[in-house]
Amino acid sequence: ALARVYVTRRVPPDGLRILRQSGQVQFELWDSDDPVPRKELLKRVEGVEGLLCVLTEKIDSEVLEAAGPNLKVVSTMSVGYDHLSLPELKKRGIRVGYTPDVLTDAVAELTVALLLATSRRLIEAVEEAKTGGWGTWRTMWLCGYELNQSTVGIMGLGRIGVAIAERLKPFGVKRFIYTDVAPRTELASKIQAEYVTMDELARESDFLAVCCALTPETQGICNHSLFSKMKKTAVFINTSRGPVVNQEDLYEALSSGQIAAAGLDVTTPEPLPPDHPLFKLKNCVILPHIASASYTTRNSMSALAANNLLAGLKGEPMPKELKL
Ligand code: GLV
Ligand code: GLV
Repeated sequence: ALARVYVTRRVPPDGLRILRQSGQVQFELWDSDDPVPRKELLKRVEGVEGLLCVLTEKIDSEVLEAAGPNLKVVSTMSVGYDHLSLPELKKRGIRVGYTPDVLTDAVAELTVALLLATSRRLIEAVEEAKTGGWGTWRTMWLCGYELNQSTVGIMGLGRIGVAIAERLKPFGVKRFIYTDVAPRTELASKIQAEYVTMDELARESDFLAVCCALTPETQGICNHSLFSKMKKTAVFINTSRGPVVNQEDLYEALSSGQIAAAGLDVTTPEPLPPDHPLFKLKNCVILPHIASASYTTRNSMSALAANNLLAGLKGEPMPKELKL
């Protein structure tokens, strides 16, 4: 018999094709670009063996209870897994697939784009040019900060942090430093990055890129205590998860000139309401969580999520399985 599967979103075509052509599953799809309503999700998961989800779905004990004992595999089309209650999954012996590696290059590329847009004030500049602010060429107008001869700090050195550093190096970066729960010697050696304390990271970074996972330990770790130690000329970039940052503290740091600017691809909540104070700041560039959004990468993520799901349902090793 075909395994019953629920897919919580209209995922890119490669993933759906793999599921269709597998001859292994019968899947029901929430065929929309918008998230499935919670009530609908709780109803649709009943009795399924597999669940393919995206990061807007909180997969907690309520969903797992609604699914029942048939559920064997949860496959998320994301590298982040903070929306999954891992202890609850582990307790039930449910295997978990996710999508690292295939998105590393796209996320690193977007992080560099966001960093440059923020440090060289591109959004502000485009706005000025369009709306009459461009009176004449001025010597100090719209000046920003350059990567050349800079120190770049990476908070949480994983695959993505390394890929960002590799792309930034040719801009003339002088030094890479990083923090993590422990030294990541092998990864760090690829970019000659130096392991430092949080304090040093804050004090010495000209650019600080947050690349860590959201966990109870990293929640709110970018707060007043961090920002107050940073250079007034520092540029802060977050492409990990919004809750890693205390947003009130960030607002304070940006509006008081404690730091120079921030570029955020992730916020709390998402979407960030259009009337949020951060949107009023010229020195804050906010993107709507698009770091992995290239056609190629989103298709690869959906394909990997589908392949993880199928392998898990067969009891085989998944291409990318999260160790619980
Ligand atoms: C995106 O944020 C992801 O976790 O894949
Ligand atoms: C800038 O356009 C310059 O000529 O310096």
